[in-house]
Amino acid sequence: MSSRENEAETRKHIALTVNGKKVERHIPSRMTLAELLREELDLTGTKVGCNRGECGSCTVILDGDPVLSCTVLAVEASGREVLTIEGLAPGGKLHPIQEAFVEHDALQCGYCTPGMIMSIKALLDRNPNPTEEDVRKSIDGNLCRCGSYPNIIKAALAASKKIVCG
Ligand code: FES
Ligand code: FES
Repeated sequence: MSSRENEAETRKHIALTVNGKKVERHIPSRMTLAELLREELDLTGTKVGCNRGECGSCTVILDGDPVLSCTVLAVEASGREVLTIEGLAPGGKLHPIQEAFVEHDALQCGYCTPGMIMSIKALLDRNPNPTEEDVRKSIDGNLCRCGSYPNIIKAALAASKKIVCG
């Protein structure tokens, strides 16, 4: 096989929806979803900490479920819907979870914050009235080196009340 054929074979066409918009790309078949978001679509709100499925900073929502986008190939997301942190604040209006993070001082450096918020968003979408234990479980794959966990949990519970009570 020529190197040209080899190159063609290792690129794939994908079509997916990201934050409500249709996206099509011709990408290397080994590109991760995190790379697609950050490098092809300029959605750099999704952070890459470990790049091996251990820190949760790259969490996005794929068809309603939180996933570690550094462990998902972009081709696996083809035909599916992705929600990233940018999709929570269309037009710059903060989502109630983001507002609660600000109000409860739930971040220091902020590197873990997009992933934390997406994990909490996935939780509140399926359980709008979670217990503290539910919140803890929802973020058990999200590491915060700054140790902001107590305020993150307070913010998640406050966000659930904002969402339930409007
Ligand atoms: S960057 Fe994906 S889990 Fe750490
Ligand atoms: S706020 Fe710094 S890692 Fe969580």
